[in-house]
Amino acid sequence: MPTENHNFAFANNPPIMTPPIDIPIELTTSSRLPEIDFSNLEFGKHTADHMLTVEYDNGVWQQPRIVPFGEIKLSPTSLVLHYAQTVFEGMKAFKMDDGKVSVFRMDKHYKRFLKSLERMCMPALPEDIFKEGIKALVKTDKAWIPNIEGGALYLRPFMIATEQRLGVKVSDKYLFMVVTSPVGPYYPKPLNMKIETEYVRAAEGGTGYAKCGGNYGASFLPTQLARQQGFDQVLWTDAKEHKYLDEAGTMNVMFVIDGVLTTPPLSTSILDGVTRDSILTLAPELGMTADERRITVEELESALSEGRVTEAFGAGTAAVVTPIQSISIRGNAYQLPEWNNDSFMVKVKNKLGDIRHGQEADAKGWNTVV
Ligand code: COI
Repeated sequence: MPTENHNFAFANNPPIMTPPIDIPIELTTSSRLPEIDFSNLEFGKHTADHMLTVEYDNGVWQQPRIVPFGEIKLSPTSLVLHYAQTVFEGMKAFKMDDGKVSVFRMDKHYKRFLKSLERMCMPALPEDIFKEGIKALVKTDKAWIPNIEGGALYLRPFMIATEQRLGVKVSDKYLFMVVTSPVGPYYPKPLNMKIETEYVRAAEGGTGYAKCGGNYGASFLPTQLARQQGFDQVLWTDAKEHKYLDEAGTMNVMFVIDGVLTTPPLSTSILDGVTRDSILTLAPELGMTADERRITVEELESALSEGRVTEAFGAGTAAVVTPIQSISIRGNAYQLPEWNNDSFMVKVKNKLGDIRHGQEADAKGWNTVV
């Protein structure tokens, strides 16, 4: 389907905004914070008091602002509503032991956001709007970071196409926003997974590596069907042959097979997970060899049936490190061994937590203190 050509800066060529960036803040007059029970948080149900918002119009980013959280006005013909030109990020801010607040791996998230924007033919967001905007927003709502085990302020930067048009075209207008939400663990219990060999999440050359809304909408039906069969999540396989493992849609997947941390390599159908990358980076420090390689369903099934898979888990910003307790392959369910304090997944989760909360030195420079 042909689309009209529009001349604006694409994600691989970010427009420069003249620093220093000034972000006016309009504070709420009635905080909702007293209504929130931090000991009973449903992921993403509550949003903090403020949000960041900035518009893009015909090649120019406008003034970013922090305003009280609230509804936005959209025309029913906004392109995003019809053709799903939208991308997002998922990040977290943590309260550190010394009382400071930090955002985890801001740079890696920004770079992934740019890649997603490029794939969806959307304009690059200047680095200072993303980074300074998030820092100012997190600072404004730092009281919303829950002080509970596994708690964080989840940050949801996103961009939508707002031009009013029903013709299939690349939008000339966009809205970038960041909303935040106090969260606990995304999956409160270990997962029963089903290897999906009928439906497809993403094909090579498609949008699987981009964090775009369509990838998630397309996974709803197969996930719903799997839930009706008693599973929590599906583990996607490649679109061509259903032969190789990809990812789980809300998280990347990792296994310890024959004592080696093994995970599918990045491709155009897999999201470049920030937690995945952090775990692979930290693995050697925990004495674990890591191998990024294609894993066939057949290999996984043999290894499971021979007891050579000692650990299986999901890794993601929301999921953090979530244990998988069973994997079903074409109707055969394989149970994973119980994990304990010596399990790699427990050790790496603790190490990540220690870095994020400042209990361990941030040797990689992953924390941005706001
Ligand atoms: C994340 O881990 O941040 C995600 O975006 C996964 C899901 C909550 C959509």
